[in-house]
Amino acid sequence: MRVGVLTGGGDCPGLNAVIRGIVRKGVQEYGYDFVGFRDGWRGPLEGDTVPLDIPAVRGILPRGGTILGSSRTNPIKAENGIRRVKENLAKYEVDALIAIGGEDTLGVATALADQYGIKCVGVPKTIDNDLASTDYTFGFDTAVNIATEAIDRLHTTAESHMRVLVVEVMGRHAGWIALHSGLAGGANVILIPEQRFDVDQVCAWVESRFKIRYAPIVVIAEGAMPKDGDLVLKDGTLDSFGHVRLSGVGEWLAKEIERRTGKEARTTVLGHVQRGGTPSAFDRWLATRFGLHAIDAVRDQDWGKMVALRGTDIVRVPLAEATAHIKTVDPKLYAEAGVFFG
Ligand code: F6P
Repeated sequence: MRVGVLTGGGDCPGLNAVIRGIVRKGVQEYGYDFVGFRDGWRGPLEGDTVPLDIPAVRGILPRGGTILGSSRTNPIKAENGIRRVKENLAKYEVDALIAIGGEDTLGVATALADQYGIKCVGVPKTIDNDLASTDYTFGFDTAVNIATEAIDRLHTTAESHMRVLVVEVMGRHAGWIALHSGLAGGANVILIPEQRFDVDQVCAWVESRFKIRYAPIVVIAEGAMPKDGDLVLKDGTLDSFGHVRLSGVGEWLAKEIERRTGKEARTTVLGHVQRGGTPSAFDRWLATRFGLHAIDAVRDQDWGKMVALRGTDIVRVPLAEATAHIKTVDPKLYAEAGVFFG
């Protein structure tokens, strides 16, 4: 059996740990051969490969990024994309493919498995933790730790200057990073894409914090949106999913807070710092287990499935189910955090 492996979409700490788990178990226990496809779906589309064997995965467990490279190429949108993928899989004598990715990459795997008969297994990956059917995705824990450390640091500088510090974290469609890091870091306001926010309410929370001589920290997900519809129409942009986003929402909010409260405000956009560098121990553990279970799914010829975490068990779920919708923050969970606002 020869197995192709690819990593697609935004990179994420733990990708190398998955690749290592797949290759180590595949070679040692099942005697499989591997071929790495470069840059996500671009690899099978253009026939761009890299050797993938035990020496190639040595020492990569704690390394961030992906030794295979990544891209957001979608072969379904490319001219003759499916035919080219099939031809390249035949050319490199690939019997099965393991796709490690988020909603886009696994959406392609779903279509290839369910509509075009390509033998695919999926592994969920995203720092945003917004993939359905799995309790957690690897990368999320690392991102939350990085954001929490940043919030801890911002508390002390905010208090020295009695300023509002707005921290913009990743999360286009779901506020998991904002909610978890905001709670862990003791933020005074947490704003997520799932619920439009009222700027007057945010300013009231900010002012109540100053009244007790503390400087407020506002954590905002990059996809969060104010309630004000006019503003959205004027400054909003459409992202790749066709969702309206206010670009630079953290900076925008800091300016509004200054204008409305007269308090000095600064913004920190954490950006790709949340995605880079070494994975946390939890993410290495989860990613390694996903890798081991993905190669088991190949051995069982259980095509069209994605490995997923349920409690402490790794299970298999249909790729189609996992990619049908994204997992957003439950309003009850968000409401729970409200006790700390203001
Ligand atoms: O999907 C993960 C993610 O990190 C999002 O939170 C973020 O909006 C996006 O990727 C950024 O993607 P890129 O690196 O392609 O700009």
